[in-house]
Amino acid sequence: MINLKVEKAFNEQIKKELESAYLYLAMAGYFDSMNLDGMAHWMKVQAKEEFEHAMKFYNHIIERGGKVEFYPLQLLSRNWNSPLDVFEHVYEHEQKVTESINNLVELAKAENDYPAQVLLQWFVNEQVEEEANALKIVETLKKVKDSPIGIIMLDRELARRE
Ligand code: FEO
Repeated sequence: MINLKVEKAFNEQIKKELESAYLYLAMAGYFDSMNLDGMAHWMKVQAKEEFEHAMKFYNHIIERGGKVEFYPLQLLSRNWNSPLDVFEHVYEHEQKVTESINNLVELAKAENDYPAQVLLQWFVNEQVEEEANALKIVETLKKVKDSPIGIIMLDRELARRE
């Protein structure tokens, strides 16, 4: 049986992961409206990954006899003014998610919930990758500045994300 405090916190994390998916889909919409298909594709893949993250918590709760809860989702988008602005937002957002995962690790440890700690280890590693991916694109966009050729080349590269 899952620890009740961990169950509640995991349900809140399901909401956060789904809000991440919703945010990245909004970013995909922004890029699609600018005909930056590769960046839009990158965001759609990212949105799917976030849905999978939500499902990892969902499955963990169910497998341990808990109950999944669904809360209203908030759209965390804002008025972006450039591709750099969008990817800086991704990086900022992922740092917040990392903080949230770290808080869950603390809770699972305090509650001696070992299976939760094992699940969370996957997320700890995933967040290192998520932050690194976003930061790499931010750094590239900073170098590219407003060069249309640079933006188009990066767009083509991001189109290759699997
Ligand atoms: Fe689910 Fe992007 O962290």
